[in-house]
Amino acid sequence: MSSDIFAVMADRRSCKRFSPQPLEMDKVLQVIQAGHLAPSAGNLQNWSFLVITDIEKVRELYHHTLDQEAFLTAPMAIVVCGDVDYAHKMYGMRGKRLYTIQNCAAAMENMLLAAHALGLGAVWIGAFDEDKVSGMFGIPNEAHRPQAILLIGYPDYEVEPKSIRPIQEVVYFNSFGNKVLRPHLIFYDWATEWRNQAQKVRQHLSARKEAIVARKAEEEKHPPKPRENPLVKAKEQIRSAVEKLKKEQYRK
Ligand SMILES: Cc1cc2nc3c(=O)[nH]c(=O)nc-3n(C[C@H](O)[C@H](O)[C@H](O)COP(=O)(O)O)c2cc1C
Repeated sequence: MSSDIFAVMADRRSCKRFSPQPLEMDKVLQVIQAGHLAPSAGNLQNWSFLVITDIEKVRELYHHTLDQEAFLTAPMAIVVCGDVDYAHKMYGMRGKRLYTIQNCAAAMENMLLAAHALGLGAVWIGAFDEDKVSGMFGIPNEAHRPQAILLIGYPDYEVEPKSIRPIQEVVYFNSFGNKVLRPHLIFYDWATEWRNQAQKVRQHLSARKEAIVARKAEEEKHPPKPRENPLVKAKEQIRSAVEKLKKEQYRK
């Protein structure tokens, strides 16, 4: 895990399957704090973070999110809600329609990065039935709207680096669509920096890819023992304690 913000951004991927490893509440609180530190229009901070720790409710969300399987393994969900009333009061329709969405999106991105920096996996869920989700958790309709759901936990797999569009395709200079394919001819110093940074990210990603390939090859040679499910272990401990008590009672 690295605290270098560029490495965190380069490494982060959505996590869509979670392990049964218990999730520490202090890490979740740090993730929420990161969301709450996000920028917002006029510093409105018109978001709220509805933390769903009730695992049955997390599983129930599966049915209101186009059956997304990540809900079947995630240990926790955080519904980020926007206070549209407050934004409307302060900034009219632009506040209600645009700023609230952007504010919550900024909070979501901060949370994704914080989760990754803490060694957790997370995914941004935007596809869900707003009315059903509001109904499930008593979110007051109209005044507040669920904008996004963050699923969070420990990942159950190692994700591979994603392919990224060349930056020259998406950066324009001074006029929309005006690409600079050879930036070194115009801004020599910036171009050097740009190339160096791109080179660093490329090296980082290919080193990670190599590490994943090597780990997979090693796992094929020596398959790892299946991970112990802490819930099964706890159940087993309770069962043997009960057995012991029963035997003691019988002896008396
Ligand atoms: C606005 C928004 C909505 C998203 N909704 C979903 C979703 O409903 N389900 C899902 O699995 N991923 C969702 N994602 C995650 C994207 O699929 C993911 O970020 C994208 O494929 C890039 O992959 P990466 O996050 O691993 O970089 C959403 C992301 C954003 C920004």
